Amino acid sequence: MAGFLTRWLRPGPTMTAEEAELEPGKLPRHVAIIMDGNGRWAGKRGLPRVAGHRAGVEALRDIVRACVDWGIAILTVYAFSTENWKRPQEEIEALMNLLVEYVRRELPELKEKGVQVRAIGRLEALPLAAREELARARRETAGNSRLILNVALNYGGRAELVDACRRVTGEVLAGKLRPEDIDEDVIKGALYTGDLPDPDLLIRPSGEMRLSNFLLWQLAYTELWFADIYWPDFRRENLRQALLAYQQRERRFGGLKI
Ligand code: IPE
Ligand code: IPE
Ligand code: MG
Repeated sequence: MAGFLTRWLRPGPTMTAEEAELEPGKLPRHVAIIMDGNGRWAGKRGLPRVAGHRAGVEALRDIVRACVDWGIAILTVYAFSTENWKRPQEEIEALMNLLVEYVRRELPELKEKGVQVRAIGRLEALPLAAREELARARRETAGNSRLILNVALNYGGRAELVDACRRVTGEVLAGKLRPEDIDEDVIKGALYTGDLPDPDLLIRPSGEMRLSNFLLWQLAYTELWFADIYWPDFRRENLRQALLAYQQRERRFGGLKI
């Protein structure tokens, strides 16, 4: 009974954040996460960086399950940026192999849970095996609608805007669109995330407080949440803390408090 009574209450002076419960009606629809800190997590343990990436996959599994359990509609995760090609070849290869392994191993559970897998970024530059696994995951989960898991790979916010400009320009040159008809909706529709609402909440663990070229257009009015924890240690309790913080925010979108 006590559990039932406290269920809908917000954290207040008599309630610690650990005891507070999520309010289902006030959850973000779209959560974005910069999965950062894998290398430092490994370094702290005297392990190679790739061990951190491997451990990061465990965190992703836990967070996907939590999003399904809590009814989050969309989860967009930053897995590899357009700038990450600057890293040693060995690390890049390990990351691409992990991606293939992740899809192969997780796909049955993702399908069973009703997760729709998508990928955004310049996917054509990824190794063939990675592209094939992503295409398979996309195909086999296309009909699912419980959670959209959107994985950003070879993704850059600036590259996305360049690609959007190219698409829109193509339409103009083909005579399908007049320059004066280009508005924010047209640009939004030309982004990789064209059919998705903007993220409501962005989470970046690892202590860094920057966007690192993630979803530059889409994050215009997103609530930001940073944490001093490395991604491989991130679990549903950390997500819950972020969601509780989000529920305390007042989103005004430039307007006034209602
Ligand atoms: C995030 O962890 C994973 C990728 C960028 C691919 P990092 O590898 O950036 O880990 P840190 O930031 O060096 O600790
Ligand atoms: C952002 O992390 C990219 C991903 C998590 C995939 P980085 O580690 O690449 O970002 P910077 O270099 O610290 O800004
Ligand atoms: Mg990093």
